[in-house]
Amino acid sequence: MTIWNLGSINIDMVYDVPHLPAPGETLAANGLTRGLGGKGANMSVAAARAGARVAHVGAVGADGRWAVERMMEYGVDTRFIAEVDAPTGHAIISVDAAGENQIVILGGANRALPGDLVGRALSDAAAGDMFLTQNETSVQIEAAQMARDMGLHIAYAAAPFDAEAATAILPFLDLLVLNAVEAEQLQAATGLAPGNLPVSDVIVTLGAEGCRWFGAEGEREFPALKVTAVDTTGAGDTFTGYVAAGLDRGLPMPQAIAQAQRAAAIMVTRHGTADVIPDLKDVQAGL
Ligand code: RIB
Repeated sequence: MTIWNLGSINIDMVYDVPHLPAPGETLAANGLTRGLGGKGANMSVAAARAGARVAHVGAVGADGRWAVERMMEYGVDTRFIAEVDAPTGHAIISVDAAGENQIVILGGANRALPGDLVGRALSDAAAGDMFLTQNETSVQIEAAQMARDMGLHIAYAAAPFDAEAATAILPFLDLLVLNAVEAEQLQAATGLAPGNLPVSDVIVTLGAEGCRWFGAEGEREFPALKVTAVDTTGAGDTFTGYVAAGLDRGLPMPQAIAQAQRAAAIMVTRHGTADVIPDLKDVQAGL
């Protein structure tokens, strides 16, 4: 099966800072690294590293050709990444000494996808494939509608959270992944707690506490592995990409979650985003 991921591709500018900047503060960074990122690209790389066949659907500008090449090197099918007349999306990421981050994104090409791109990509899809997306690109609803009509399983990570975007895509979803803050925001918008949402599987991630899965058999907790975090950026994306890959490979949800938790735990011990996502070998070898 294939995972079709309609997702962002960002140039991540990661600043190593002593603490996260306060409003009005000018802060000297200790260093800067540039890497591949974007919630979409991170999830595609994670799912590919977890052994799934992944086709990424997205866009970059001419300044992002290197990012597409890198995704290809990481095993992602990049045939449906368009080059458009807009700058590649980017993210300004501050990471503090405790591994916490603060992220500002500019959508750029991610918000300027060609109108026919999703249709062209999904013409190669088959019923039973998975369609995955997040909230960093244009055309999410049209794409989810098309994927649903074709019999694909639809997964959505509700980040960055926007109540209007999340409620609009909700009727199409089979799997929803969101963090505790996003779950509260969605509950405020819909009046529905995670377990009552009209989605077969809902996973609420709880950071260092683990996650909670709401499925057909009710609610189940998965405590997190204990690690010392140096950078939490992209850990959630790694988790979602690994869950998607596990399900696509036919794993039962508890196994897919357990594997995804191990991948996310390794991820927080590394600096960087897509470029440092662990592969299945690392994950199976353990921490
Ligand atoms: O979740 C982390 C990601 O958020 C970063 O890679 C950044 O590009 C933003 O999309």
